[in-house]
Amino acid sequence: MENKPLVLMTHDLPADWIGDSLDEYQIILGDNTQRGIDNKLKRYLPDASGIICLLDDPISSEIINQASLLKVVSNLAVGTDNIDVNSCTSLGIPVGHTPGVLTDGTADLTVALLLSVSRQLAAASQDARDGKWSNWEPTGWLGRDLKDATVGIIGLGKIGSAVGERLKPFGCKLIFNNRSPLPDQEINLNARQVDLDELLSTSDFICLHVPLTQETIGLIGKEEFEKMKPTTILINAARGPVVNTNSLIQALQTNQILAAGLDVTDPEPLPPDHPLYKLPNCFITPHIGTATVNTRRMMTGIAIRNLKAGIEGKPLPYCVNPEVYNLF
Ligand code: GLV
Repeated sequence: MENKPLVLMTHDLPADWIGDSLDEYQIILGDNTQRGIDNKLKRYLPDASGIICLLDDPISSEIINQASLLKVVSNLAVGTDNIDVNSCTSLGIPVGHTPGVLTDGTADLTVALLLSVSRQLAAASQDARDGKWSNWEPTGWLGRDLKDATVGIIGLGKIGSAVGERLKPFGCKLIFNNRSPLPDQEINLNARQVDLDELLSTSDFICLHVPLTQETIGLIGKEEFEKMKPTTILINAARGPVVNTNSLIQALQTNQILAAGLDVTDPEPLPPDHPLYKLPNCFITPHIGTATVNTRRMMTGIAIRNLKAGIEGKPLPYCVNPEVYNLF
């Protein structure tokens, strides 16, 4: 075994995003086709100083407990719901994530989803390819206007706020629901903070931007769909399990809501035979919110900075459990 600190990387990343920044470590790469700590990586767990993982790599307490030398878990994502953060905290292991640099990319994608669904871009494009564009149809592929539409944003953190900023010039009426009061954002976005019931029952578009936690699992389920208007379009670019999938299918099938645009689903990846794909009023992309070259490159840079700091015993630049520094 080399004398360099050992780092497990569940998936490789482009060499030009990494440069020479990992040269001081012995890197053990996982199998790109598998998720999580695969059998090869498991063998190295007892010697690992650091882990770089992706948002769909489960990092359980069982994994953490096998890595007695572990000094840091660095997630290439802002969300860390794939990691048992409590276990890491109890063992004094900091967990890094990549906020900020992915705000614009994710907000852009959210607006793209919203426009695609509201203007039926997927169906219109497919119909054109399929030879169904026979003449200009006065009632063909009709969509919904954004101007004067009420857009309800659930979770007005960095990404939710950036979505609001982007939608303001479209002339939407913005409302939002957030755990804590945000009076400044009411002024900045010309938005009104409302309770969840009001948001659900009055929004033409609902955009979800909450992290996945015990409180937000199934936040949108049967009861919530019952409160929405039959013309509502639901956009989820946060985490799949924030929406109860069976209730969503039911709401789309029975036209309880008009349509959904999903960049995230539960489960993920969504298997090709999943009922959601069969619904013409459901538009799905494969969790690509941060998928721009610039964003992913910057996320990689931050994930590596977090890793290095953790291995060197310094505070991580972006840490989700900073309480580890006060524990021991
Ligand atoms: C993307 O979903 C992320 O959490 O970074």
